Amino acid sequence: MKISVKAKKAYDVYIEDEIFSLKDYLDLKKRYFVVVDSNLPKEKVELFKKELKNSSFYYLEAIEENKNLITVEVILEELLKQNFSKSDFLIGLGGGIIGDIAAFIASIYKRGMNYIYFPTSTTAMIDVAIGGKNGVNLLKSKNIIGTITPPCKVVIDLSFLNSLPEKHYNNGLVEAIKMAMLFDKDLFELFLKKDFKNIKEIVTRSLKIKKEVVEKDEEDLDYRNLLNFGHTLAHAIEASSDYAISHGEAVSRGILLDTLNQDLKDKLETIFKSLKIKYDYKLKIDKIKQYIYSDKKIKDEKIRISLLEDLEKYIVKYVTIDEYIELLKEGVSHGF
Ligand SMILES: NC(=O)c1ccc[n+]([C@@H]2O[C@H](COP(=O)([O-])OP(=O)(O)OC[C@H]3O[C@@H](n4cnc5c(N)ncnc54)[C@H](O)[C@@H]3O)[C@@H](O)[C@H]2O)c1
Repeated sequence: MKISVKAKKAYDVYIEDEIFSLKDYLDLKKRYFVVVDSNLPKEKVELFKKELKNSSFYYLEAIEENKNLITVEVILEELLKQNFSKSDFLIGLGGGIIGDIAAFIASIYKRGMNYIYFPTSTTAMIDVAIGGKNGVNLLKSKNIIGTITPPCKVVIDLSFLNSLPEKHYNNGLVEAIKMAMLFDKDLFELFLKKDFKNIKEIVTRSLKIKKEVVEKDEEDLDYRNLLNFGHTLAHAIEASSDYAISHGEAVSRGILLDTLNQDLKDKLETIFKSLKIKYDYKLKIDKIKQYIYSDKKIKDEKIRISLLEDLEKYIVKYVTIDEYIELLKEGVSHGF
């Protein structure tokens, strides 16, 4: 299965059940620098080591605390010391943290080198794979430094998910639920029916939605902002909890708040409960507030928020930060 993205640079995203050789996707004679998630099973990384002979492997622990400019500098120095050129390839092999860091490095090393991504988590396959957004955290702000640079290719090997811990697997599905609410009622139905294991279908349908959105507005100037549904609050929750609350847990709370229809809120809660996603933690508004002020989406002191009146029925609003905080307080007083 292949999805072709026709954005400022065209690229293909391959979705396979399991990959046994890299030769169909990579030129094995080229030189690769592979940034590897240190939690991946050895036997899965072995395939890369066996086939990419003339290459380097850099293992990195996928934690938000490592998603910073220090890590970026260390890896850039490695690339330079090992004489990697622009025409060599950087590979990101891991979940969203590894993907965001590796893609950012590839986009700035020698003003841009070739980048190929092998996503290994549900979040990464469903969301990070398409769109070219990358970046790292700085001070109180998540993903505040980065670029939008499309990869050369993305290769999804669904069998990586066999080793993904259940909590991360389920958390990653929240991004698919978000896309389903905005653009694909039928996919939302699949979640309501608790059909969570049909991962190929979930990944493919989510990526088709993302492709459509990215092809219309890759630079995130307007339309792509819709995918930020639930994310203004989510990023503030994550950062203010020092990342103790995961991305999926934070986004689930964010989309609950930005959903206006009570019946839909109830359905969402049912889905989150069946996925064992923690979403009903206490929100400390005063703490969260500071992080909302440093959100990268703020322009002319206003935040663009997407609210959902019903499935596939969104409205877009521009509110001041204080108005947004009021909305948040109101939501919290109603239990969201
Ligand atoms: N660039 C984008 O478009 C985009 C979109 C969504 C999220 N993100 C970013 O992605 C990050 C979240 O991504 P994530 O949910 O993948 O988190 P993650 O990268 O932290 O991965 C979750 C955990 O699973 C482990 N893991 C990953 N794949 C595994 C596998 N196959 N087997 C065993 N363990 C595995 C990781 O080591 C980590 O411990 C956040 O930093 C978020 O900002 C970026």
